[in-house]
Amino acid sequence: MKKQKLEINYRSCRLEELDSDEQELVRAAMQATVNSYAKYSHFNVGAAIRLADGKIVIGANQENAAFPSGLCAERTAIFAAQAQYPDQAILQLAIAARNPNGFLSSPITPCGACRQVMMEMEDRYGISLKIFLYGSEELYIIDSVKDMLPFSFIDKNMQG
Ligand code: THU
Repeated sequence: MKKQKLEINYRSCRLEELDSDEQELVRAAMQATVNSYAKYSHFNVGAAIRLADGKIVIGANQENAAFPSGLCAERTAIFAAQAQYPDQAILQLAIAARNPNGFLSSPITPCGACRQVMMEMEDRYGISLKIFLYGSEELYIIDSVKDMLPFSFIDKNMQG
């Protein structure tokens, strides 16, 4: 039996160290937390997407009394972008989250289902999706969903 090792890569910095257009995207995700409907968790998540033509599309988590009917911020943003601008590749995604004490100090990391949907975007548009995970003390930059979802499942996995 051979022991194997997988490595993932990410960088960390503060918001002010990003390029101005990247800062704009992260700030749009922070602002989008205001549109969150988080009646049950009181955890307000915002997402902002940069399309190939430069447009920003936002999303925010939407909860429901029937819990599984709600949706995360990342997927509301991705599906909104896809429904309105299917010809525009999704190049970047920023996420920010607040609890009742304010923005999280550590980066918010997306759930598995959102990672799967993000991976589909890389496959659909043939790009690497750059991800910004906001924390007030530290922000993570991840250059591809492959670094968030090792051993992912995409279309080609069905072809053997
Ligand atoms: N949530 C998101 O919107 N994105 C994440 O990355 C993690 C979790 C939402 C789902 C639910 O409305 C609330 O946060 C608590 O799980």
